[in-house]
Amino acid sequence: MVSFMKKQNELKKMVAVEAMSFVKNIISKKNIIGVGTGSTVDYFIEELSHFKENFLGAVASSKRTELLLSKHGIKLFDLNELTELEVYIDGADEVDYSLSMIKGGGGALTREKIIASVSKEFICIADESKLAENNLGKFPLPVEVIPMATSVVSRFFMDLGGSPILRKNFVTDNGNYILDIHNFKIENSVDMEKNINNIPGVVTCGLFAIRGADKLIMATSRSGIKYFGK
Ligand code: A5P
Repeated sequence: MVSFMKKQNELKKMVAVEAMSFVKNIISKKNIIGVGTGSTVDYFIEELSHFKENFLGAVASSKRTELLLSKHGIKLFDLNELTELEVYIDGADEVDYSLSMIKGGGGALTREKIIASVSKEFICIADESKLAENNLGKFPLPVEVIPMATSVVSRFFMDLGGSPILRKNFVTDNGNYILDIHNFKIENSVDMEKNINNIPGVVTCGLFAIRGADKLIMATSRSGIKYFGK
């Protein structure tokens, strides 16, 4: 287990370095970059800090990312000041070959989905363990809910065959709760995302299929870096 984690962290670092060398060729000094959340992105932020003169600043998808960006002296922007972002870089908990994803393992799914919606290019960075060979759903689906709707939303998911578990001792940056839906079969991810969005009390679901990634940069132990998508 310890050596798996070590290997996985090496792959996360590898993909972060590759993502930076890709991103630095598509950004200019006037660009503001969208930055996601998670341990893979933490490595990316470290890389980004070496190229501060190549871009104007960043919009963060979580308080955790805000802190890390500030620590590295990267200027933060409020999304309300902007209309679009050139590029958004974020990790995933699971990603399939159509570049639909499950996100929200770190609980930042709502802000991540908002930033993704205004970004011209969404680049997902991941190690090979995140790749879903078939349908998404091995990783429990995170769903951010308004606290008073926790039971109502749980019942909806139980009716759909899922097993919702309230994430313990966790409140999102928006003051809400997370239900992690286990044993949940996701066949048509776009339709499923639309259906979940319609459940009253759901703020955001961790399925990113309506707006998936445009590009996946993946680190593998056998074949090095692989690119998928546009
Ligand atoms: C954060 O809410 C998630 O969407 C992350 O992108 C995801 O959990 C990936 O995390 P790691 O890079 O730590 O695996």
